[in-house]
Amino acid sequence: MDKNRDEYIPALKYSWLTSLYDPILRWTLRESTFKRQLVKQARIGRGDRVLDLGCGTATLSLLVKRAHPEAEVVGLDGDIKVLQIARAKAAHAGLEITLDHGMAFELPYPDNYFDCVLSSLLFHHLTLENKNRTLKEGFRVLRPRGEFHIADWGKAQNNFMRIAFLLVQMLDGFKTTADNVQGLLPELFRTAGFEAVQEASRYMTIVGTLSLYWARKPQ
Ligand SMILES: C[S@@+](CC[C@H](N)C(=O)[O-])C[C@H]1O[C@@H](n2cnc3c(N)ncnc32)[C@H](O)[C@@H]1O
Repeated sequence: MDKNRDEYIPALKYSWLTSLYDPILRWTLRESTFKRQLVKQARIGRGDRVLDLGCGTATLSLLVKRAHPEAEVVGLDGDIKVLQIARAKAAHAGLEITLDHGMAFELPYPDNYFDCVLSSLLFHHLTLENKNRTLKEGFRVLRPRGEFHIADWGKAQNNFMRIAFLLVQMLDGFKTTADNVQGLLPELFRTAGFEAVQEASRYMTIVGTLSLYWARKPQ
């Protein structure tokens, strides 16, 4: 048995909560603000190929497609149940995106295929080993000078944010979330070979500090 698959954490940890994911996120996380900012930050071009890693219910993938109808948008998630919700949302919106089942740390795409990789709230679900493997895979599938944009839990701005984040840690586990709150993601980007790594913005939410990062694959 592959221990990396055993450590899989669904959207709200327990499968039976998955159908509540969208309303919970909307009410607690300023979801539309930070996802719109992530899309803006990515400066997606006409006809770009965009991958949304750990796409969940595809809110971000659909936001990209709506803002950039000419982009080819692919969402990937390891959970069949959440992908069913994503497919229903895409059909309801009448937007054409590809939704693939797969693991973020072993991507079913060729080298240098995407112009842009996005990821929202995936990394705190991954062990340190899988964070590193996922960044390496993101690097591999990006074209030279392609960019990786991540929204995820970051280093707490103050003690209040640190305490608030304990709620997320109690739900998703201390093991996978510790790297985030220690502010390790930029260093992991560099280790995977990315350049121009930066934390572009931060949001205070009722459950902790959410950071938007980006980095570029060198030429
Ligand atoms: C908190 S949800 C975020 C979903 C969506 N990106 C968003 O921002 O609403 C985390 C998602 O990552 C997926 N996930 C967790 N581990 C994964 C892995 N190793 N490979 C692919 N998807 C994974 C979960 O199934 C879940 O849908």
